[in-house]
Amino acid sequence: MDPLREVLLQAADSTAVRNLVQGAPVTRSVVARYIPGETERDAVAACSTLVGAGLSTTLDHLGEDTTDLTRARAVRDAYRRVLSLLSDAGLTENGDCEVSVKLSAIGQALGPDGNKIALEHAHEICAAADAAGTTVTLDMEDHTTTDMTLAVLTDLRQDYPWVGAVLQAYLYRTEGDCKDLAGEGSRVRLCKGAYREPETVAYSEKRDVDLAYVRCAKILMAGKGRPMLATHDPRMIDIGGALAVQNRRPQGSYEFQMLYGIRTEEQRRLASTGETMRVYVPYGADWYGYFMRRLAERPANLGFFVRSMMSNR
Ligand code: FDA
Repeated sequence: MDPLREVLLQAADSTAVRNLVQGAPVTRSVVARYIPGETERDAVAACSTLVGAGLSTTLDHLGEDTTDLTRARAVRDAYRRVLSLLSDAGLTENGDCEVSVKLSAIGQALGPDGNKIALEHAHEICAAADAAGTTVTLDMEDHTTTDMTLAVLTDLRQDYPWVGAVLQAYLYRTEGDCKDLAGEGSRVRLCKGAYREPETVAYSEKRDVDLAYVRCAKILMAGKGRPMLATHDPRMIDIGGALAVQNRRPQGSYEFQMLYGIRTEEQRRLASTGETMRVYVPYGADWYGYFMRRLAERPANLGFFVRSMMSNR
């Protein structure tokens, strides 16, 4: 793995660095590039603007590794509130806006009962999404949680067959998971993977990750489910388009997805060609881990961030 990426992903787990970065006066203006705001109102406003521009969205209430039950319940309630607000604003029609959920934010990390608690909370969020007429996608965290997350997915899909999940191409196991989840009704968001993983479970070289991404995309695009190609990589996007033609997939039977604030012109260009382009919109006060993973993906962003901090000292 790139040493700078390694350091940044380590910093994502460090409380000392978290305090330094979150306390820096300039940080918020830099963070705003990736996160439209802290409140539900900010989130709904961002979705409204994007939908107005012909894009779809998935909202993520920021926060991960929740270690107390009260907090996990608060995150569940935040999802229920924002789904209701999206629905009231007419933004859930046709699944224009859905939500993405990290199981660690709703209780998965709460000891031996964590998985059960996360499943209960996820059920309640799915019920709210169902009432609002939209869907839920489970984010994927580090590899120690993959089996648990896929088990929760299977459980939720018994009541809500439209629940989707993220698969990370950098994990050696993922081609197999793609085969398992390529069937009718399945929704899979394929990404490269953003966590610091050991070489025993994941490819570390970019070239290997890219090749794995293509192999996984081929499986999903040839299947009967709804592939969601989550990437900013121009080569992956071209290959996704070619796979759609090869598999005679009409536009709308698959999606391209990108993160809020990254390659925004390309997002609009793809939407203007008739592709479904969904933007992942994170909101909330607990932005540190998400922000550090975005810095780790692109050293140029780190330079921008450090220069901004220095010029404001
Ligand atoms: P790659 O990192 O190779 O970048 C390709 C090009 O995209 C770069 O050259 C640059 O032009 C641009 N780019 C990429 N990142 C950028 C950045 N931060 N700033 C500016 N430009 C950038 N991961 C995970 O482990 N679990 C998850 O649940 C999710 N969920 C998720 C949802 C969605 C909708 C997306 C788009 C991504 C995720 N991810 C994720 C993150 C994903 O795993 C991956 O880390 C990033 O998408 C970066 O990988 P790319 O495919 O964009 O390629």
